[in-house]
Amino acid sequence: MAHHKILTENVHYADQHEIGRYEERGGYQAIRRILNSDPLSIMEEVKTSGLRGRGGAGFPTGMKWSFVPRNTGKPIYLLCNADESEPGTFKDRLLLERDSHLLLEGMMIAAYALGSHWTAIYIRGEYAHPAACLAKAINEAYQRGYLGQGIFGSDYGLDIVLHRGAGAYICGEETGLIESLEGYRGQPRLKPPFPAVVGLYDCPTVVNNVETLAALPWIIKNGAAAYAQIGTEKSKGTKLMSVSGHVKNPGVYEIDLGYPLLDFINNECGGVREGHSLKAVIAGGSSVPVLRADELAGVLLDYESLKTAGTMLGSGGMIVLDDSTDMVEVVANLQHFYSHESCGQCTPCREGGHWVEKVVKRIYEGQGFPTDLMLLDSVCSQIAGHTICPFGDALVTPVLSFIKKFRNEFDEKIMAALDRHLV
Ligand SMILES: Cc1cc2nc3c(=O)[nH]c(=O)nc-3n(C[C@H](O)[C@H](O)[C@H](O)COP(=O)(O)O)c2cc1C
Ligand code: SF4
Repeated sequence: MAHHKILTENVHYADQHEIGRYEERGGYQAIRRILNSDPLSIMEEVKTSGLRGRGGAGFPTGMKWSFVPRNTGKPIYLLCNADESEPGTFKDRLLLERDSHLLLEGMMIAAYALGSHWTAIYIRGEYAHPAACLAKAINEAYQRGYLGQGIFGSDYGLDIVLHRGAGAYICGEETGLIESLEGYRGQPRLKPPFPAVVGLYDCPTVVNNVETLAALPWIIKNGAAAYAQIGTEKSKGTKLMSVSGHVKNPGVYEIDLGYPLLDFINNECGGVREGHSLKAVIAGGSSVPVLRADELAGVLLDYESLKTAGTMLGSGGMIVLDDSTDMVEVVANLQHFYSHESCGQCTPCREGGHWVEKVVKRIYEGQGFPTDLMLLDSVCSQIAGHTICPFGDALVTPVLSFIKKFRNEFDEKIMAALDRHLV
């Protein structure tokens, strides 16, 4: 199936990151077009498009913007979340490196609609090359008068600041990001209040993902109705999927939402490796529940279908696992990540994460006890729902969903260990 190219139309051009080439291929037309319009009409257009946040939660973008109180006398901030650290997720990186100006134009549109004059991109610390690409693009835009005082000759001023993180996954959570940007430890805040009302420096703030913002120039150029025609009734437009694991063609793909998951793996991704069969799929980044191969028939890549199947589209970081995979090893690997990335504020997450890692590791290493699965269940039940931010729920998802779907593999290792304990 031919998918629409809203975000990736030009990423294959090696010179697309240069401002001149970006403009030759139609760039900076959308922002020029709206600079004299009513900002609220742009917000309505984005609402009508049905665009939903691509950072993971899928919250409607226009609606999120409408929560921002205007005329409070305080500045309004727009922050671009380029922290992209979820295991399996590397889709924003493609846009950051290959089409940096597309993101900048998307930010200009969002900032104009919100009445914001100061914006920042918070980029993952390890993304040194993408950060260099962005820094160059921002400089180019300032030199041409597309950023700064009176952009494109209008009376609207806008600054974009690039801020590099220090390599903490939790700074991708929007309030952790805000704390970090303010110069504090990246520790999430209790919500409510939500950032739209009390955000950066206690001012109204919108945090949007790179992919979300990069969709805006196309929506303005082609119209909200054209965007809303792509995808399904509730999942509009296209989605970037970053695919890793046991497929022949891993990489980043742009698909129309609503595309069958198995077709995607078999057609676009070339299917699983020769001589192997599909065992399981983590559809939307490591924090979403795993699906067994026998659960995938009829599942579509959209928010609703994946929810019905018991998982989530999340960030679109798809990890494909074939029959060579040791599922206990997968969980041991992921729990090592989660226990390391806790920000340490909440006791259940800070302490529980290490307990979960320790118990899964000993099962994997053949030292597990028959009571370990009950122990994991008990520890996880004291983490999920008892923490300041959703990281606690994310932490327990791999262990609980893999035990539910592949219980036999955990039992086998524990039984083998039992024999050893008895010797
Ligand atoms: C632990 C955790 C990590 C997150 N990491 C990211 C991230 O790297 N990038 C991102 O855009 N959103 C991330 N999010 C989601 C953000 O909190 C926020 O919902 C998102 O940036 C909003 O943008 P959107 O509305 O465009 O999706 C994370 C959330 C949590 C709980
Ligand atoms: S759940 Fe974990 S990461 Fe989130 S605030 Fe609490 S300790 Fe920090």
